[in-house]
Amino acid sequence: MRWLGLGTVVLGVFIWRSGRVAKHTTLTKSAFPLGYYASGDFASSCSPIAPVDDPAFNDLKYCEDETFWDVLTTQGDLQTRHLILSCDSNRKAWNTVMGPLRDPKPRGSLWLKTLGEEDAAPTRILFQNYPEGHDFHPLGLEISPSHNGNTSNLFVVNHAREHTTIEQFSVDPSKPTIALYQRTLFTPYFVSPNSVALTSPTSFYVTNDHFFTRRLAWVGKFLPMMESVLGLPLGWVAHVALMPNPLDPSGEPIFSHTVSALGIPFANGIALSPDGSTVAVASTTLGEVYFYQREPKDNTLERIGSVPMPFTPDNIAFDDSGALIVTGHPHFPSIVSVAANKTEVAPSWAVAVTPRSSVLTQRDLRSEYDSQSPISASLKAPAVVSHEVETLFQSNGTGFSTSSTALRDARTGRLYLTGLYAEKGAIVCRPS
Ligand SMILES: *[C@@H]1O[C@H](CO)[C@@H](O)[C@H](O)[C@H]1NC(C)=O
Ligand SMILES: *[C@@H]1O[C@H](CO)[C@@H](O)[C@H](O)[C@H]1NC(C)=O
Ligand SMILES: *[C@@H]1O[C@H](CO)[C@@H](O)[C@H](O)[C@H]1NC(C)=O
Repeated sequence: MRWLGLGTVVLGVFIWRSGRVAKHTTLTKSAFPLGYYASGDFASSCSPIAPVDDPAFNDLKYCEDETFWDVLTTQGDLQTRHLILSCDSNRKAWNTVMGPLRDPKPRGSLWLKTLGEEDAAPTRILFQNYPEGHDFHPLGLEISPSHNGNTSNLFVVNHAREHTTIEQFSVDPSKPTIALYQRTLFTPYFVSPNSVALTSPTSFYVTNDHFFTRRLAWVGKFLPMMESVLGLPLGWVAHVALMPNPLDPSGEPIFSHTVSALGIPFANGIALSPDGSTVAVASTTLGEVYFYQREPKDNTLERIGSVPMPFTPDNIAFDDSGALIVTGHPHFPSIVSVAANKTEVAPSWAVAVTPRSSVLTQRDLRSEYDSQSPISASLKAPAVVSHEVETLFQSNGTGFSTSSTALRDARTGRLYLTGLYAEKGAIVCRPS
């Protein structure tokens, strides 16, 4: 009887918190097209970012995150834009978020691709001074822009075997494929770091996706899953800053860690708007993106709204024009099955979220929107007065599998997508 009661409570909480998400991303699988690209024809516009059959790119697969690296002139104009990707070809043997935890040894990799009229082939980034025996399983990453030829700081979330750390490298724009290891950041507050958003070359926000992690003995198989399934609001955002320490001759900075926002179910991707005023955070299990107003003086955050997504969102990024690109997984059981190495592909979806140009009231809202998309977002997420949501990319998994991040280069309109378990690693779609 007691168990029956508990079961009912669990089910009740589940339906109350995640009913819409459960219905649209777990219980039903929509008939997504092979590939849909909003700005052109999928077959002729989208292609892998690296040659598919060349063994030199064998490790460029299962890419969780990507970021632009802008190299600026003295005047602050954009001189070169690179794309940096975080990939882990060993993900099916080591994934601290979804499992399994079998073999942490083979290292993941970072790749650099210089963007231009004709994008160059990617190059693997080589590490200098990286500690031997220290695992490398990259997830979220971000790099500060380079001004006037100075080096940039690269921060990478690393799901190492004992706990998750954040690795700091410096990269010189004249040798862009060499990352010089600086230090490993760790505090017991890094329970489950997932994604980072820089607030300066030496400070950043970081999301922690779960309070209970798979690394926990005995309960690690059960509690994180319950936390996800119930959509429990146990994820959070912290702000980390490294400050010069004049008293330390070794040059080790003073490390500060402050909690910025609590109570986010499965806090996943995080992004800072180009003007620095807004922070967006993806809540995967609630199927929403939260918006926060940021106080630049002390990096405190105040929640100002949220927008429901038609899928479980993963990583998010503002493009140069201020649109938030949200990417994720429209069918959760499919990606769980791919993570368990039982099936090959799972569907993909990316949308652009933009503030509405005119102020609407709830009454003026049309429930139908996103009408161009094969499966409209309006079938799965209610419209909101604050923002518009429009599909940029959609696939049943055959065209592109397990999309986790999409970045849009507003100069060219090109869309770069990575896939958590995509054999091709990443694709680019060029507007026709
Ligand atoms: C995706 O759609 C195409 C075209 O309808 C089909 O051939 C393919 O089998 C589908 N893939 C999956 C994983 O359903
Ligand atoms: C995944 O399954 C394939 C066979 O379907 C197997 O060759 C491969 O070793 C498996 N990978 C892992 C990491 O278990
Ligand atoms: C590079 O120079 C810019 C502008 O002077 C400065 O804001 C930034 O902190 C420098 N970056 C690093 C990593 O020193």
